[in-house]
Amino acid sequence: MQSDVPGNKLKREIGLFGATALGIGAIIGSGIFIVTGIVAGVAGPAMIISVIIASIIAIFSAMSVAELGAYLPEEGGTYVYAQKLISPFAGFIAGWIWIFSNIFVGAAVSLGFAHYFVTIFPAIPVKVIALGICLIFLFINYIGLKESVMFNNILVSLKVLIILFFVAFGLGFFHPGNFSPFTPDGSMGILSGAALIFFAYTGFARVTIMAEEVKDPTKTIPHSIFLALGISTVIYLLVNIVAVGLVGAPALAKSGSPLADALSMTGSSGAVLLISAGAMIATASVLLTTIMGISRIVFSMARSQDLPSLFERIHPRFSTPHYAIAITGAGMIAALLLADLALVVAVSTFAMLIYYLIANIAAFRLHREHRLYPSWVPVIGALSCIGLIAFLSPNSWIIGCIGLLIGGVWFVFRKRFGVSSP
Ligand code: ALA
Repeated sequence: MQSDVPGNKLKREIGLFGATALGIGAIIGSGIFIVTGIVAGVAGPAMIISVIIASIIAIFSAMSVAELGAYLPEEGGTYVYAQKLISPFAGFIAGWIWIFSNIFVGAAVSLGFAHYFVTIFPAIPVKVIALGICLIFLFINYIGLKESVMFNNILVSLKVLIILFFVAFGLGFFHPGNFSPFTPDGSMGILSGAALIFFAYTGFARVTIMAEEVKDPTKTIPHSIFLALGISTVIYLLVNIVAVGLVGAPALAKSGSPLADALSMTGSSGAVLLISAGAMIATASVLLTTIMGISRIVFSMARSQDLPSLFERIHPRFSTPHYAIAITGAGMIAALLLADLALVVAVSTFAMLIYYLIANIAAFRLHREHRLYPSWVPVIGALSCIGLIAFLSPNSWIIGCIGLLIGGVWFVFRKRFGVSSP
């Protein structure tokens, strides 16, 4: 039996296509296939404006993350940037809240997958399917990065093709009258919609978490972030316009599988089946990159002794941080078994906005010679993150703050009592 090797170097295997696919894989999932319905309920057809607002906010934070990623291409993302540019505590909180957010993302997409799955196979309970898909993707991550990146590329290509089919096919049944009244709930509805649909944008910085596995990282990281965000924004706008044009916002708001229900008005059961398959592929690919991302952050935090050193061990055969993957899976399964979909989406978004807030502060502290963009970019980025948090539900603030508190207590505890790694 082979023994584990602590602290092995990860291999640089991810090029621009793979890095962009990682971003798209992490971005396009439950947000567009499920949260679209919730946003339709609060913003009406003006959800298109919500999507544009969320994308503009995402672009500012993406610019900050891109310049940080080019400056410090190390495994760990904002966890590393904040440690070096703000303080060890800020870095720890960034890593901690990122893990917290993504455990909820993993739970949300597993449940999102299961909700579309039961539209085809209604006999199996949703939680059983969610648990099953989560275990399958934990195994794929466990057996190796190369297999996972290749698999991710296939899933991303398929989901983008199926979404383009939705747009092209749906356009033939488009009713412009569905866009009236355009803003039934006014600007409050639009802004609440923007806060909710921001969930759909989270994931654009996923590649920075795996920076040590990226080829030519100073170029590949910024390019792949903007490509992933740009492609996703165009796709989101097209899907929202066509979905409203097909059945109108009130019908989308009532549905747990809004894009399938939108296509059902065409009378084509084949099209409904195809979009349901697309939703399952999309949520599965978000799950894949989410598990990859969390396990890498746990690995990075263990390497800095913020988490036990067990989690920095690399599997001698598969070259994966296998203990980190195991703890990631345990957290995600616990969350999905207790999850309520709407709440996990809001909690995950709250936590991710805190993460981007810290990223923007770190970017603001970059020296002038390391900046790719003007210093007002991270200022706008930080203010817009705070602004969006204000439009999330109070329940999500409470759960998110409890998560932050637990992280803060752990940080103080391990510093004060000198808790050492096993
Ligand atoms: N952005 C990811 C999704 O839409 C979390 O599922």
